[in-house]
Amino acid sequence: MTLNRKTALVTGSTSGIGLELARHLARAGTRVVLTGRRKDLLEDILRDFSLKGWEADGIPADLATSGEAERLFRETLSRTGGRLDILVNNAGVWHQSPVEDISRATFRSVMSLNLETPFILSGMAIKLMKRQGGGTIVNISSVAGIEAWAGSALYSASKFGLRALTQSLLAEGAPFGVKSFAICPGYVATPMAADSPIPPEEMIQPEDVARVVMAHLSLSGATVLKDIVISRLGAEQ
Ligand SMILES: NC(=O)c1ccc[n+]([C@@H]2O[C@H](COP(=O)([O-])OP(=O)(O)OC[C@H]3O[C@@H](n4cnc5c(N)ncnc54)[C@H](OP(=O)(O)O)[C@@H]3O)[C@@H](O)[C@H]2O)c1
Repeated sequence: MTLNRKTALVTGSTSGIGLELARHLARAGTRVVLTGRRKDLLEDILRDFSLKGWEADGIPADLATSGEAERLFRETLSRTGGRLDILVNNAGVWHQSPVEDISRATFRSVMSLNLETPFILSGMAIKLMKRQGGGTIVNISSVAGIEAWAGSALYSASKFGLRALTQSLLAEGAPFGVKSFAICPGYVATPMAADSPIPPEEMIQPEDVARVVMAHLSLSGATVLKDIVISRLGAEQ
């Protein structure tokens, strides 16, 4: 896909992986819609993009709240002239606790952001992309979406679910030229991994994840990668 003059919505783009990916897309000439809850930060980021001559819009949204994904999608299309070439479901929250401590409210809150919102946005996006005759949906899963361990059940369930969503989207979109793929990184040096005992310089860098996504977006229309695992050097996964 040529990225110049394309349109993209990247969720969770006020920080970390989403922000880095938004930068890469905008630098390549894509008009990017950024979103997150932090309105002031979003405005600062947009100012910086504008100084660089990059085309971008910002729509603040709390995607753990019912109805916000639908509003975000509608507002995105109003900024992009009704077209969307790339959707990146990146916004997510980490959760760690034994299963016995997970309340229904906690379950719903994590699942709402990490899985329900990607389902809703992807459903609206694939419908549009099928009509357009093409597009790409990128889901940011995790190595925790391939394997679960003590304390990761809820986060892992959301990230396994994201891979299931991706596989179905790929099968449903393929006849219409719509691609879907999931990226499964290990520890990435972002605020989400700040409490990890691993030093940030030994982690995967957000830029590495962005580069992998950009490489995939540049493949020919006939090619798709499945379940891309990005590992730290020396890590088991
Ligand atoms: N860091 C890692 O080690 C790692 C590894 C594998 C996968 N991942 C996945 O990568 C994705 C990005 O994470 P990151 O590491 O870049 O984390 P991050 O730096 O903490 O960024 C998280 C982003 O999600 C947004 N967000 C959080 N809650 C939200 C909500 N309720 N509504 C809307 N936006 C919300 C945040 O924006 P606001 O705060 O402005 O709302 C922020 O832009 C996540 O899905 C994560 O699970 C991360």
